[in-house]
Amino acid sequence: MSDARSLIARIRAGGGVSADEARWFGAGLNGREITDAQAGAFAMAVCLNGLGPQARVGLTEGMRDSGDVLSWDLPGPVLDKHSTGGVGDPVSLLLAPALAACGAFVPMISGRGLGHTGGTLDKLEAIPGYVCEVGPSRLDHVVRNAGCAIVGPTGRVAPSDKRLYAIRDVTATVESIDLITASILSKKLAAGLGGLVLDVKTGSGAFMENMEDATALAEALVSVANDAGCATSALITDMSQPLADAAGNAVEIRAVMEALTNPKAQRRLREVTVTLGGVLLADAGLASDVQDGAEEIAAALSSGQAAEGFARMVAAMGGPEDFLESWQRLLPEANVLREVTLGCAGCITAMDTRALGEVVVHLGGGRLRDGDRIDPAVGLSGIARLGARVEARTPVAMVHASDEQKADWAVKAVRAAMTLGTARPDAIPLIHAKVPA
Ligand code: URA
Repeated sequence: MSDARSLIARIRAGGGVSADEARWFGAGLNGREITDAQAGAFAMAVCLNGLGPQARVGLTEGMRDSGDVLSWDLPGPVLDKHSTGGVGDPVSLLLAPALAACGAFVPMISGRGLGHTGGTLDKLEAIPGYVCEVGPSRLDHVVRNAGCAIVGPTGRVAPSDKRLYAIRDVTATVESIDLITASILSKKLAAGLGGLVLDVKTGSGAFMENMEDATALAEALVSVANDAGCATSALITDMSQPLADAAGNAVEIRAVMEALTNPKAQRRLREVTVTLGGVLLADAGLASDVQDGAEEIAAALSSGQAAEGFARMVAAMGGPEDFLESWQRLLPEANVLREVTLGCAGCITAMDTRALGEVVVHLGGGRLRDGDRIDPAVGLSGIARLGARVEARTPVAMVHASDEQKADWAVKAVRAAMTLGTARPDAIPLIHAKVPA
């Protein structure tokens, strides 16, 4: 007989628990047997002491089986991508319709903002009318007709993750290989995928700030997913600065629409999208190799097919029928816009990307308490790149705030997050490694 209190106490003491006990806890998170306080204490104990590889698998399986496990009967492979979380990282919104344009079907079960990182669902809800919480039959309908659907974990798919995710978000218990693995893979394995690519972020805005931790997370994710029968690879990519030049909700949807409609816009965002897609198409046999797959994704983006697919998905999920034409007019705008300058000349040598993510959260673009309402309009845009040479009055970001006081605070916080030096720093590669190599 398992009980939550003794299980938490053993993890706290560093003694660990068995795979079966962790499976019991993962499944039990979808019920009254485990309270919110126990879920929070469990998350903190795991964050501090870890679960180890076997109990990690047990927790993932328990959370996967806490709800429905979907199966598909579609005329093409069922593929997906997931990120471990970053700042200014809306890759999913480009990649899902691009994969659909290449013959895949993409039922993407995504998350909300977590800690300082942005959430795909919060970004999509900046589009007027878009409804993320749908049941399995609506999901099936949209995937069949639009090729992709980006939705939230419902009461029926991975409900244990839905609960634990919200608790981790507000209890500073995100940074754990075991919890991130169980969270991501419980929803992905419940979605009945044939193939998955993971974007494991590293750098100052990632949960795993250094390569060693990011590699350990990538290896844990790839091994648990492949053992569970889902063909999975990971790329470790750079998060030492925001990926797009914007961070927030509506501002990131704007960056996505720019990247979908202008082949020269948002170069870094497109490069990560194209490389992840290339890996996934090659693994799934829809391309002869990664290079060929990357070219297919790039063509889907440049031809406008991905943009049209994105607009079809938005309309099918309750958003405007003409989003491709109307996005500039329809996306919400903040009351106050304020340029940030650094006050002296130099080269941007480092960025505290986590701090930039926190600026977005404190402006109201993320949650500080469970249930906080998101302000879709706030955030940062025009964020300068690492290595950029600036003069005293060159804008390095634009703050979008709901009032003057918050704008004043955010301008100072963005300034403090940027380090100015004299020499240009060495360029950091955008894609660090593939797992397996
Ligand atoms: N994405 C998730 O879905 N869960 C995590 O824990 C981190 C990123």
